[in-house]
Amino acid sequence: MDNNDFKKHAQDVLGWMADYLKNVESYPVKSPVKPKDIYNQIPATAPAEGESFETIFYDFKKIIMPGITHWNHPSFFAFFPANNSYPSILGEMIMATLGAQCMVWETSPAATELEERVMEWLGSIIGLPSYFSGVIQDSASSSTICSLLTAREKISQYRINISGYPSDTGLTTYASTEAHSSVEKGIKIIGLGKTSLRKIAVDRQFAMIPDALEEAISKDIEAGLKPLCVVATLGTTSSTAIDPLKQIGEICEKYNIWLHVDAAMAGTALVLPEKRWMIEGIEKVDTFVFNPHKWMFTNYDCTAYFVKDKEALIKTFEILPEYLKTKEGSQVNNYRDWGIQLGRRFRALKLWFVLRSFGLKGLQEKIRSHIELAQYFAGLVKKSGDLELLAPVPINTVCFRYRPKGVDDPETLDQLNMKLLENLNMTGKVYLSHTRLNGIYTIRMCIGQTEVEKRHVDAAWELIATEAAKLKDLVFSCG
Ligand SMILES: Cc1ncc(COP(=O)(O)O)c(C=O)c1O
Repeated sequence: MDNNDFKKHAQDVLGWMADYLKNVESYPVKSPVKPKDIYNQIPATAPAEGESFETIFYDFKKIIMPGITHWNHPSFFAFFPANNSYPSILGEMIMATLGAQCMVWETSPAATELEERVMEWLGSIIGLPSYFSGVIQDSASSSTICSLLTAREKISQYRINISGYPSDTGLTTYASTEAHSSVEKGIKIIGLGKTSLRKIAVDRQFAMIPDALEEAISKDIEAGLKPLCVVATLGTTSSTAIDPLKQIGEICEKYNIWLHVDAAMAGTALVLPEKRWMIEGIEKVDTFVFNPHKWMFTNYDCTAYFVKDKEALIKTFEILPEYLKTKEGSQVNNYRDWGIQLGRRFRALKLWFVLRSFGLKGLQEKIRSHIELAQYFAGLVKKSGDLELLAPVPINTVCFRYRPKGVDDPETLDQLNMKLLENLNMTGKVYLSHTRLNGIYTIRMCIGQTEVEKRHVDAAWELIATEAAKLKDLVFSCG
């Protein structure tokens, strides 16, 4: 492919992209393919001769597209969103075109300095104190690992980096029973072993109970162990519960424990002044992560990681082989020392495009509308006779189940709701996901797609009512 071919194909691809985004609602939200349907259509060996782009693009449409789940469909209500926007896509296209690898300042000064600036913007629009330094990471999972490692190095006076773990460090970490699995995964990856993670009980709102945290810490100290880190979650994955940061921060201060905040999706809601209560107590926090790639219209991947003590972060990760030495040295930010990977994508570009294109007001309008739609849907559930809410709705995720009158057996209700979710998703008209809350099979509806409107929520509601009614007929006709 030469430059002229590229120009021609780029126009074709661009046309396809615009049409796709315009017509995304015409696709089934969740891909209906079966395992290996796609794999079996792809030849077993790579082509020996180059193929024309027309052929490749044709196959993309024919083979790959049916196996895509449409995360940008406005009726995608599953998991947490990974939403998107036109300015973000344009930024990503330019990023791919430049192909810049932004490991150190010198390898693209603009990438480093734009990242510094957009992270200052981002910290400020979500209300973080200005002493936080920000860096873009790939994921919340690896940001949590960065935080745990920095905490570990600080507590060991940077000795574990040098001589590895002594036979038993006694280091313990605390997160609620509702914390994301990435915390446990992080603990395993850094070699502390999952038995060193204490899962702290939650209250009826599914938020961490500070007294239970303090009790666990005291018990560990009495046993001669060393509390390392508390991970507080703002917006748990199952039900978006908000851990009480202020009280948790006070406990961390009292026992001199590192405090990391995982606000993966909910962090975006902090653009709204009315949601800032979630970060009351932020001054006690050491590190804070949230994903613009979830709810801030910036396509995957883009994770904002903020640290109070950037020197500790750098000291944990820095490594300087001869081939990476540059003239500017530490006068500039070399982000390779701010995280796990060496090579880095120019993610700041798409985030810059998004922040400028939406403006704070535009972001606030969208986020507020998603929260209002979730409250509206929760209201419908509350009013209905046959559905029940299973958790509070502090932001944009509604946890509910179908509970027809006369059906009380927990196992039957679980089975009924599993079937309801399966039937809903099989229609191709919506995609919802599930969790368990207090052991109860729970359907989750998370509203965070860029183009979601009330009509999509109403349509989902109608569909749930229709599918639930069909199941009701089935349950009662079976006796
Ligand atoms: C609360 C929470 N933390 C962390 C993660 C992991 O995010 P990532 O995919 O960026 O690692 C998720 C993913 O949904 C999450 O819900």
